[in-house]
Amino acid sequence: MSLIHIISATDRPGSNALKVSKYVESKLSEYADTKIFSLRDYPLADLHGGKYGNTPNSVKEFNSELLKADGFLFVIPEYNGGFPGILKLFFDYLPFPDALELKPVSLIGEAAGAFGALRPVEQFEQLLKYRKAYVYPERMFIQRVNDTFDEEDGLSNDVLQGLLESQLKNFPDFVEAVAKNEEVPG
Ligand SMILES: Cc1cc2nc3c(=O)[nH]c(=O)nc-3n(C[C@H](O)[C@H](O)[C@H](O)COP(=O)(O)O)c2cc1C
Repeated sequence: MSLIHIISATDRPGSNALKVSKYVESKLSEYADTKIFSLRDYPLADLHGGKYGNTPNSVKEFNSELLKADGFLFVIPEYNGGFPGILKLFFDYLPFPDALELKPVSLIGEAAGAFGALRPVEQFEQLLKYRKAYVYPERMFIQRVNDTFDEEDGLSNDVLQGLLESQLKNFPDFVEAVAKNEEVPG
């Protein structure tokens, strides 16, 4: 089985992204080995003052554990029409240039609003493409997350739940297909 790391892309206490990540892991773990990385555990304090070019060991260790996976699934909330600031900081301290090069990445957005974090997910996709990741085309945008998502049962809308389950079932196949073709140039 492939190893897929799920990244809960905020450090907000009690976050919905972490709840969604845990629900998603319960489904994804049928098809892949999984582990959740919450950016709440990211060693943010060690970056105070700007450590560019001098990455602290705590951040290197966080990154090297996270980057052991064959594929990645980011669960991204919407903050002010974008993704959380800690996700950009995390991204800026990934090893350059190879951290995500030719790595499969799947995306789920969640937001209080009606667009389900479409904006931050698509903004983040631009960054992923810059870093030469393979963005998986099935995506989920969880609209009005506080009303439509349940930690035990998933999404209240059957059609959307079906789409989410399809994404989680098919992404591991994509991860395996990419791994078999690692020699394909980026
Ligand atoms: C700083 C901040 C900004 C937010 N901005 C938006 C927004 O632009 N659009 C939206 O739909 N919801 C917005 N929300 C609501 C969040 O999308 C919603 O509460 C989401 O579940 C937060 O994810 P989290 O619980 O994982 O932090 C914002 C929440 C916070 C904390």
